Amino acid sequence: MFNLTTIKIKEGMTQQEIDEFTTQALKEMDLQEKVQLMSGRDFLKILIKDRGIGKSVFPAGGVERLGIPPLLFTDGPRGVVIPGSTCFPVSMARGASWDANLEKEVGEVIGKEVRAHGGNLYGGVCINLLRHPAWGRAQETYGEDPYHLGELGSALMRGVQKHNVMATIKHFAANSIEYSRFKVNVKMNERTLREVYLPHFKRCVEDGCATVMSAYNKVNGTYCGHNSHLLRNILKQDWQFEGFVHSDWMDGLYDTIAGIEGGLDVEMPRAKCYGKKLIKAVEGGKVPMDLIDDSVRRIINTILQFTTRADPQQYSKEVVGSKDHIKLARKVAEKSMVLLKNSNDLLPLDPNEVSKLAVIGELADLKNTGDHGSSNVHQEDIITPLSGITNLIGDKIEIVYNMGTDIEEVKKVAQNVDAVVVIVGYTYRDEGEYIRQFIRKVGDRESLELKEHDKDLILALSEQNEKIIVVLVGGSAIIMEQWIDKVKGILMAWYSGMEGGSAIANILFGKVNPSGKLPFTIPKKESDLPFFKAHIDEIEYGYYHGYTLMDKNGITPRFPFGFGLSYTQFKYDNLTLKSLEEKIIASIDVTNTGKKEGEEIVQLYVGFENSNIERPKKLLKGFHKVLLTPNQTQRVSIEISKKDLAWYNPETKRWEIEDINYSIYMGNSSKEEDLVSTQIKL
Ligand code: BGC
Repeated sequence: MFNLTTIKIKEGMTQQEIDEFTTQALKEMDLQEKVQLMSGRDFLKILIKDRGIGKSVFPAGGVERLGIPPLLFTDGPRGVVIPGSTCFPVSMARGASWDANLEKEVGEVIGKEVRAHGGNLYGGVCINLLRHPAWGRAQETYGEDPYHLGELGSALMRGVQKHNVMATIKHFAANSIEYSRFKVNVKMNERTLREVYLPHFKRCVEDGCATVMSAYNKVNGTYCGHNSHLLRNILKQDWQFEGFVHSDWMDGLYDTIAGIEGGLDVEMPRAKCYGKKLIKAVEGGKVPMDLIDDSVRRIINTILQFTTRADPQQYSKEVVGSKDHIKLARKVAEKSMVLLKNSNDLLPLDPNEVSKLAVIGELADLKNTGDHGSSNVHQEDIITPLSGITNLIGDKIEIVYNMGTDIEEVKKVAQNVDAVVVIVGYTYRDEGEYIRQFIRKVGDRESLELKEHDKDLILALSEQNEKIIVVLVGGSAIIMEQWIDKVKGILMAWYSGMEGGSAIANILFGKVNPSGKLPFTIPKKESDLPFFKAHIDEIEYGYYHGYTLMDKNGITPRFPFGFGLSYTQFKYDNLTLKSLEEKIIASIDVTNTGKKEGEEIVQLYVGFENSNIERPKKLLKGFHKVLLTPNQTQRVSIEISKKDLAWYNPETKRWEIEDINYSIYMGNSSKEEDLVSTQIKL
């Protein structure tokens, strides 16, 4: 017979030893100890000590008598929020890199910094699908496509977890309206839920994600923290998730019994519905002990897996914000920016031709790394666009900086320079996480366009100077119709992290060849998008959004999903397919036909035109990045698993693969003209 005096927690425990410990612990713990594992604690104490949120880790659970360590939570996703950490570009920017290997490196840096700060649980893998660009927290996720979201989210999660930090994927599920997040009932049919809003979560679960954070909103009438269809039927049963679910922070749980019955294991950040109320509910016979034991087993099992595994390295404080980490932040910023327009090859700027450059705009010299909500990485050492440009080229050319507040004044500046870089867009005051009206007001974006002053500024400048380059800062799509034809260059620079200014400079002056591609569609007008309302009690999410909606309605967007220019060009030919037992291998020759070395993101879409049921015209099912020198050709192969072609049949409640001809498209954006295609029968 085992007991906890013979089974000790030690480094390098096997799964069998962890299971034995957990089984024994369940026998030896009293109800109070079990329930103690199921909620956060010391929240207010830490808030008072830190005089604010996010400055140190938040503990939850833990039972000292048995040596069970607490959960020690910190947040992200643009780094670790605790002061001094490396500040990366926001997730949406990283989504535009389409680079899962790079994202895993980001995850590793985050994992190391979490450990150096003393944490073991990272809440920063946000993979909510971007249904509409007005969503205030769009910047925290990777884009509009489930496959792409799964690739990037899983990479971040795996990187973080490599350093024995449990990663949380959030917010489960359908959390994509900020102002209404605490109340909105998001309705959708089962097929839409399974095919559009959940596949990326499933992917992360299959890849070993330790924990899941439930969302604040309701899905089909039930709060996500109480939602047994989401948490029990789908996550724990269908997907066989063995980790634990914790709540979101403010009002993630409303009811003790609904929470535990729904499948919520840990209430964060303090015991409001769990704690004493949960003990009472069990003692009163309202909650069976089995449910408590199931949660406790998940929590102990997960925490022991992560805290007893040997560490790949040591994590001293010096790791935080180290030189190597900052270097990675710059690389990520360089790989995430998307060149949207470059008429007459104005870019890259040649210092021999541009001897006087104007850098204009309120955002030009602003430390602007994104939202100030729970994702705010407290980092002061930030290279602004102006300082990046000055550092790179300030000794070779003359740089004239103007905030652009006075349009008449700035017009004169534009007359006397060789080119104008105007930096416009948003800050945390325009889009971000909505906490509570009396704390901070901003949430969803009011308009998808630039501010009136910024538009006036661009139009005024364009009358004075032919060479206007607009650098856009923001977390998702910006509608540009009023001014797009008046400017020569557009670079989507995002909230680009602590090294963003250097990355902008390196791209503008050609030290780096841009390779980012849009992880969402930019429409010509808002009415091309699905219905969205920031203040709303109930909304229906349909099967289509983003490029699937544009395809269905035959609408041409301003910039399609997957689009991004380079300083070189690429050609695609010779697409061939091979069908094997479980997968299809698609191969294509990609040639750099331009004059510069450059990276290309090769995309693969599967077309369902021959389907017997209603399906999207095409869906992204693979992508791959290649680096090519001028004239170099590389054959790129992408594998598609046949089970990824399935659709969810709500009648049979199964994923089914149709026996039809599928189209396979390969190319460098979701636009038909940018794709080469052929067909295959499975
Ligand atoms: C946010 C979460 C975050 C949590 C803790 C919540 O309000 O919605 O994304 O992880 O705060 O910081």
